[in-house]
Amino acid sequence: MTDLAALRTQLEEMSAGVKDLINGAQTPDQLEQIRIDFLGKKGKLSQILGAMGKLPPADRPVIGALANEVKELVQSLLEEKKTALQQAEIARKLAAETIDVTMPGVFPWRLGRVHPITATIDRVLDIMVGLGYTVAQGPEVETDYYNFEALNTPADHPARDMQDTFYLQDGLLLRTHTSSVQIRFMEQNDPPIRIVCPGRVYRKDDVDATHFPMFHQVELLAVDEGLTFGDLKGTVRLLVEALFGGECEVRFRPSFFPFTEPSAEVDVKWQGRWLEIGGCGMVDPNVFKAVGYDPDLYTGFAWGLGIERLAMVLHQIDDIRRFFTSDWRFLQQFY
Ligand code: DAH
Repeated sequence: MTDLAALRTQLEEMSAGVKDLINGAQTPDQLEQIRIDFLGKKGKLSQILGAMGKLPPADRPVIGALANEVKELVQSLLEEKKTALQQAEIARKLAAETIDVTMPGVFPWRLGRVHPITATIDRVLDIMVGLGYTVAQGPEVETDYYNFEALNTPADHPARDMQDTFYLQDGLLLRTHTSSVQIRFMEQNDPPIRIVCPGRVYRKDDVDATHFPMFHQVELLAVDEGLTFGDLKGTVRLLVEALFGGECEVRFRPSFFPFTEPSAEVDVKWQGRWLEIGGCGMVDPNVFKAVGYDPDLYTGFAWGLGIERLAMVLHQIDDIRRFFTSDWRFLQQFY
């Protein structure tokens, strides 16, 4: 007859042995094998419980309770170890798959940069948008009307010679300035107006260090009741100082443009030299008449900035052609 003490010893030994086995397990498969060996249908615990039938009835509950304790212990140890193995596996994967995002990339190609002309335009737009201006654009292929006529420059006007024009078929031309966008915008909108218009313009110039048949302008236009030349000067000063950084000497030289009266050239003193950066003036009443604004009610100011000129000054670039020859050695110097 199986005796109580022998069964108890067996259970105690089993519970002692299983601890080391579970601790030493390396994989979920090994854990499962341990579970089957101990708790399975033909496992060690079943064998012990099978022998329990041979005990005197009074002893059976004692061994039953002990067997239950051992079973629960084994189950909880297995569970604990399973969780630990899973966590170790996650940690291993994380370590193996770690990506150092601070490592420089290995690219077989060169990274692109923002073109200095684009960057200069963006700076002007940023500053003007900060002052409440809206960006407006118009077509590069224009009609004579928008480029000249509506800007108070009729066909026989001598000022047409100021800008040597590329004429296309059917009365079309390549716009010689972004001032054409002023007309297009005013036709579609009522005052008050604050716009900034970037874009390409074209002139039949001979190419040299400061001339290119295509270049960029940014046009400013403000129309409202009571705007004065003082507002123009203040706006010019604000933009110039934001672009050049800090206080700058700005000078307004009397000039002539058919679409402004009075007109001026804006000069900035930069590193000891006076630089011309664009024409400006108070919008001519004839321009307002062309777009149906009442010139007795509204006044306005406008300014056309030459972007290449500005970029050349800001970055000390000696030749306008460098912008358009796609030379990586030149372009990589800009961000
Ligand atoms: N459109 C002129 C040019 O390209 C520049 C200019 C002068 C623009 C006076 C203006 C202005 O808006 O008011 O030479």
